[in-house]
Amino acid sequence: MVDTVGLVREHVGAARAKGRSIALVPTMGALHAGHLSLIEAARSRDAYTVVSIFVNPTQFGPNEDLAAYPNTLEADIDACRRAGVELVFAPSVAEMYPAFDQTRVHPGLLADTMCGVSRPGHFVGVCTVVAKLLNIVQPDFAVFGQKDAQQALIIRRMVADLFMPVEIVVAPIVREADGLAMSSRNAYLAPQERAQAKCLHRALKAGAAALSAGTMDESTLRAVMRAEIAETLGESEADERIDYLVAVDAETLQSIARDTPQVLLAGAIRFGQARLIDNLLVDPPGRAG
Ligand code: PAJ
Repeated sequence: MVDTVGLVREHVGAARAKGRSIALVPTMGALHAGHLSLIEAARSRDAYTVVSIFVNPTQFGPNEDLAAYPNTLEADIDACRRAGVELVFAPSVAEMYPAFDQTRVHPGLLADTMCGVSRPGHFVGVCTVVAKLLNIVQPDFAVFGQKDAQQALIIRRMVADLFMPVEIVVAPIVREADGLAMSSRNAYLAPQERAQAKCLHRALKAGAAALSAGTMDESTLRAVMRAEIAETLGESEADERIDYLVAVDAETLQSIARDTPQVLLAGAIRFGQARLIDNLLVDPPGRAG
């Protein structure tokens, strides 16, 4: 494990000198099978794989879970070693944001919806830290999870807009047996909340079924998804806890139209301490492939 920019550059430089391609997998730690699948995607391309573990303060709002975010660094380093990761970069906040650090990366429109509404400033923090990590490691490619669909889109946009010479790879969502998307935040769930939490994936699947049957109307799709949540949580709890449920164009996150090539069904629900997100990509009928 290294914790300075200088040491990362030394190790990565040596790997590059040996002709290796370089992969970066950015994480905030508390690693689970979802993170490990991203590492596997990097390793399957035979890349020298760097995993960053950094709980980035600039992407947390003042009332969010920064202080409570799970810290399992020793276990994470072990898991990385077992997964064949060549370098773990776990910097301090002062290393990533030294004194007089000023510059922030603003993603624009794609961040004005979904998670960006309830987490103002979140994606500025994400873009800023990911830009820093990409500049520190200078990988050939970086791997992100579809679990955070909006984040992956915003990062693709940033890399294109800023002409950053890196390929962005997006890996599929890894789920628990009952469909719940794996997340470091699942650790916050009390047993009853954990049992209820699977309703988010069920709701998305109900939306996908309606879409596949020809429903291309956002408010109808939203109602179908909300009904599934209400079945588990009850009507008033559902409205209280649903942060958003949307059916949007998967590329632009804007409203869907008859000719939208791919739809993103996505939702965020609060369960006690946790705010869980999930999504499904659906090709409308007649447009698959
Ligand atoms: P974190 O939540 O730790 O997630 C790190 C990466 O793992 C992200 O790309 C995320 O989409 C992916 N991931 C999480 N759960 C997954 C699952 N169940 N299946 C597949 N991939 C999954 O996302 C962040 O950290 C941060 O915002 C970060 C990009 C590191 C910037 O600070």
